[in-house]
Amino acid sequence: SLMDKGNYKHFMAKEIHEQPEVLGHTLSRYFDYTTKRARVEGADQLKFKDLSRLIITACGTAYLAGLVSKYWFEKYARLPVEIDIASEFRYRETPVSDKDTALVISQSGETADTLASLRYCKTNGATIGAIVNVPESTIAREADRVFQTIAGPEIGVASTKAFTCQLAVLAGLALQAGRERGVLTPEREQELVAELIEVPSLALKALARESDIEKLAHPLSKASNALYLGRATNFPLALEGALKLKELSYIHAEGYAAGELKHGPIALIDENMPVFVIAPFDAIYEKTVSNMQEVAARGGRIVLITDERGASECGNAAENTVILPDMSDIVAPIIYALPVQLIAYHTAVFMGTDVDQPRNLAKSVTVE
Ligand code: G6P
Repeated sequence: SLMDKGNYKHFMAKEIHEQPEVLGHTLSRYFDYTTKRARVEGADQLKFKDLSRLIITACGTAYLAGLVSKYWFEKYARLPVEIDIASEFRYRETPVSDKDTALVISQSGETADTLASLRYCKTNGATIGAIVNVPESTIAREADRVFQTIAGPEIGVASTKAFTCQLAVLAGLALQAGRERGVLTPEREQELVAELIEVPSLALKALARESDIEKLAHPLSKASNALYLGRATNFPLALEGALKLKELSYIHAEGYAAGELKHGPIALIDENMPVFVIAPFDAIYEKTVSNMQEVAARGGRIVLITDERGASECGNAAENTVILPDMSDIVAPIIYALPVQLIAYHTAVFMGTDVDQPRNLAKSVTVE
């Protein structure tokens, strides 16, 4: 049944490994594989063409999916995004009008602050799109339009497959917006969709690195602090890596934009500080390498999550590398989420914490 762990020790492991399949289901809902175009039914209701900004709000891991999509909407659709954590957004008294569209993102569709943000936007006349995994949820009912993630039930408290499926839906919306706003040529859109169609097979290849990642658990379990660094769409992944590690293993972790290293976290670097650097070989890879060198020069222990090219160009700054296949920019945040999830998972398993039900956490936070 859907509610059993199959051959896995934990729901979280099962859900991590379901990603190639559920990403396939979600992508095929939002992309036309034949014409290689985004095909998001109901996206016209969001009025992308006329917007001067898009509002996005969510909590936890869903918020981090939104943060990745900010880079996409701005780059591929030239649509400015205003994104905030729902518990902040709802009390900011930010101006919202009937010219606005707000996207809320929620696995459960029941998170209290996200629902309150939806209602705030709705009361002020905005159009509401909701990306939810549970179609009969309150948020789904109250939104003007629902874009469902086809992740299936997610039981593990820490969100995994819902996150990557949220990214798949958001990629669909961003490309659709790019087309409607006259930013993406048909050729460019087809190129990007062709890359996204490769996500399930790339996800399988990323999962094949699991035994390399498992080896990191033992040294990491001895640390009391860890730092995650990334730039651009890998910055939200750094935040996600730190969030997952602290939730599951109770090791204090922080995610930082790599460029902010010098503005604070570098003060903490010493030989007891594991630093995870999420850096595919892309246009800003070199910038991240110089941050790595700064960390290495202070004795920091670097685990570099990158691709073949990145591994060969990093010099000897990294103590360990997790090497993923080469892939294009748009798919990287979806695929790089998998090693990030596996690091937290295996560290928690090694330490013997309750992976599926970490202390003090709830699957869905329905009270403030
Ligand atoms: C809780 C869960 C997280 C989740 C967040 C938002 O904190 O533990 O995994 O990301 O709520 O939940 P939602 O259902 O709104 O996505």
